[in-house]
Amino acid sequence: MRILVINGPNLNMLGKREPAHYGTDTLESIERALAEKGRALGCEPIFFQSNHEGGIIDFIQEKAGVSDGILINPGALTHYGYSLHDALVDSGLPVVEVHLSDINTREEWRKISVISDIAIKQISGLKSKSYLLGLEALVEHIRSQKK
Ligand code: DQA
Repeated sequence: MRILVINGPNLNMLGKREPAHYGTDTLESIERALAEKGRALGCEPIFFQSNHEGGIIDFIQEKAGVSDGILINPGALTHYGYSLHDALVDSGLPVVEVHLSDINTREEWRKISVISDIAIKQISGLKSKSYLLGLEALVEHIRSQKK
């Protein structure tokens, strides 16, 4: 089982970026933990980060056909990324949306996600643990659909 693990704009800066909101883990260390979790769950995560919406869309279009699900932290694209929304729909894959910070208790504009309506689950506010729980939920969902 192959899972696309996608991080949007500014998430390459994790570790240095507003630790009170996003924690101190770097993206590299989060990806390492996800690779390990993936081994335990029997899935292969494929990692991608871009600061550009188009780059993320190109990646989804390229890999959707050979993948089983998408775990995504869209960064600020969460709140206005309609092209990303459409690319996720077109992929036909189950999507889990994750956030390090709790987007529901911050600025008003962060409370809106244009992705959540097409995600099977949104996990928010657990720092890097959001990704690990998100991967678990996604793998469980895919397995339950295959039965
Ligand atoms: C984020 C929340 C977004 O509002 C923000 O723009 C990010 C990170 C999070 O993981 O908490 O870049 O998605």
